[in-house]
Amino acid sequence: MTETTILTVSDLKTSFKVKRAGRKYRVQAVDGVSLSLREGEVLGLVGESGCGKTTVGRSLVRLVQPDSGAIDFKGTDVIAAGGASLRSLRLSIRMVFQDPFASLNPRRSIGDSVAEAGDINDVFKSRSERTALIAQTLVAVGLDPSFAERHPHELSGGQRQRVGIARAILPRPAVIIADEPVSALDVSVQAQVLNLLMDLREQLKLSMLFISHDLGVIERISDRVAVMYMGRIVETADTRTIIDRPLHPYTRALMAAVPKPDPSKRIAGAIETGEPPSQFSRPSGCTYAARCPLRTDRCLAEVPELRASGPERMAACHNLMN
Ligand SMILES: Nc1ncnc2c1ncn2[C@@H]1O[C@H](COP(=O)(O)OP(=O)(O)OP(=O)(O)O)[C@@H](O)[C@H]1O
Ligand SMILES: [Mg+2]
Repeated sequence: MTETTILTVSDLKTSFKVKRAGRKYRVQAVDGVSLSLREGEVLGLVGESGCGKTTVGRSLVRLVQPDSGAIDFKGTDVIAAGGASLRSLRLSIRMVFQDPFASLNPRRSIGDSVAEAGDINDVFKSRSERTALIAQTLVAVGLDPSFAERHPHELSGGQRQRVGIARAILPRPAVIIADEPVSALDVSVQAQVLNLLMDLREQLKLSMLFISHDLGVIERISDRVAVMYMGRIVETADTRTIIDRPLHPYTRALMAAVPKPDPSKRIAGAIETGEPPSQFSRPSGCTYAARCPLRTDRCLAEVPELRASGPERMAACHNLMN
């Protein structure tokens, strides 16, 4: 890992228009996310269901159009990119999805699926070069080149996710956004796919945003972790620090919810009650205030900014616990 930043996200906001009981609403899925991905690192993005993790990932490759904010990839303005520059960005920043079956066309051969990004962008000089690159990419993800002729229904879940990874790496991207890539897999297969991702990261010098709600998985693969709550990042730190010494009350509650065999590692005082507030009626102050044991009047009135709270760590809380 180097200290060079490859992808910088500043105050990103992404919303969706939805209709509910005949009325139109706006769901603010991402509400001011700032984070940076360093060259060669795996940044884990963790948080409970619905907090906006997938929307962050999709915004980074413009599968959804952000409302505002800035995304910089090696000097390119991702939000403003269009035409050729957007196509080229989508070869450099690639997504791996949770459900490889849903993201593979059942009628296409595995080879055609793996080659898709290359075909769309006319990167193959010849038929034989295309065949060779498909074979090479399949081998890189631990599959025999003969898989190119097969179809998705003939593959196991783990094999399909290997194909999903092959599709992502074929154009030699710099960044992988892996959105819950092992959540749909059996536990025994999860470890194999995680190992593959870790090997590829070394071999291909990838930087990775690894989205998961599973802290065990995040702990295994991430160098740093960003914790998300209701559309915002509430804490970032390196993985060991955030697991052993979480600062934000929400991170504490999240870590306390994971069973720890060693009682000395259990976190005291992480009481949490209730559900997150509705996406349709956001509180005016800190979004976590309604559930927070440390809540004060200030928390109800004023949104806490994400700010440095020690070397290499940031948190967004008015009442930081040290
Ligand atoms: N296409 C969409 N249309 C309308 N609302 C959406 C859409 N995509 C996401 N949302 C809403 O935005 C919010 C954030 O969703 P998102 O899928 O980003 O969360 P997540 O953290 O990835 O959740 P999960 O852990 O369940 O995958 C949720 O309230 C969700 O219902
Ligand atoms: Mg998601």
